[in-house]
Amino acid sequence: MQVVETLAELRADLSKLRSDQNTLALVPTMGALHQGHLSLVETAKPLADIVAMSIFVNPLQFNNKEDLANYPNTRAKDLELAKKAGVGLVFSPSLTEIYPEEISTTVKAGDMAEGLCGAGRPGHFDGVATVVSILFNLFEPNFAVFGEKDFQQVKVIEQLNKELHFGINIVRSPLIRENSGLALSSRNSRLSSEQQETASLIYKALADVKKEFLENKVEAVELKAKFREHLKDTELKVEYAKALDELTLREVGAQSKKLRFFVAAEIAGIRLIDNLALY
Ligand code: PAF
Repeated sequence: MQVVETLAELRADLSKLRSDQNTLALVPTMGALHQGHLSLVETAKPLADIVAMSIFVNPLQFNNKEDLANYPNTRAKDLELAKKAGVGLVFSPSLTEIYPEEISTTVKAGDMAEGLCGAGRPGHFDGVATVVSILFNLFEPNFAVFGEKDFQQVKVIEQLNKELHFGINIVRSPLIRENSGLALSSRNSRLSSEQQETASLIYKALADVKKEFLENKVEAVELKAKFREHLKDTELKVEYAKALDELTLREVGAQSKKLRFFVAAEIAGIRLIDNLALY
C-alpha cells in the first residue's frame, strides 16, 4: 500500500496509475477508522482496479472547535487497517498541504444541506462540499463511496457531483451497526460503555417507530412524538427526529414510498446521528 502525504507525491502516483489504465474508487475519510469505514472499502473493491483512501480531518466542516480538538487521531492504526482491508493508496496530507493559507474560495452546498444537520451545524455542509470538491479535483476518481449513516451528506455530495459536473459515480454503502444496534461512528470511542448502551436506545426507538409505521401507517408527526417518548427519561437529548421523503429530504405524509426517519441526539456532549428507512 502506498502512503503519500504531499500533493506532488499524490499527483505522481495517480498519473502512474492512470497511465497503466487503472480505474480508481475513492473512499474519503477523516481517519479513526472502524468497521463502518472498512465496509466502504469492501463496497469500493469490486468497482475499480485500485481503492484509494483519503485520511484528512477537515477543519472547515467543524462548526464546534471542541469537537474538532477532540476528534480522535489514530493514524498508525488507520494505516494498518487500510492495508489489511486492501486499500492500494492512502493520501494522508497535513492541514497546510490542503489549506496552505486561510482559503477564501469555498463551495456552498446545495439545498439538500438545508434542515436536519444543516440547520443544527451551520456551515458544516459547505465545509464538506469544499473538501470533497478538492478531493474530487485531485483524484478524479471513477467512483467515490460514502456511507449512508451520513445520509444527508450523501445527498449533498450527489447534488454537488451532479450540479458541478464532476461526472463521478457516487456509490452509497449501507450503515453498519454494533450488535446493540448503535450506528458505528468514530465518536462512539468517546463514550463510556454505559453511555454506549444508552446510545443504543436510539436504534431501538427507530426500530419501534418503523414497526409502528408499517403496521399502522401513523402520520409523521405522531412518529416524531413516539420516538421522543422512547428517549425522554434517558441521558440522550434529541436535537431532531423527523420522518422525511428520502428523495427530497422534505416532509411528506405517510403516502411517501421512500420515507426515512432521521435523528440527531447528544449524549455527554457528543452528537450522534442515525437514520432508518421506513420501507
Ligand atoms: O464523512 C466524512 O468522514 C467526512 O465528512 C468526509 C466525507 C471525509 C469529508 O471530510
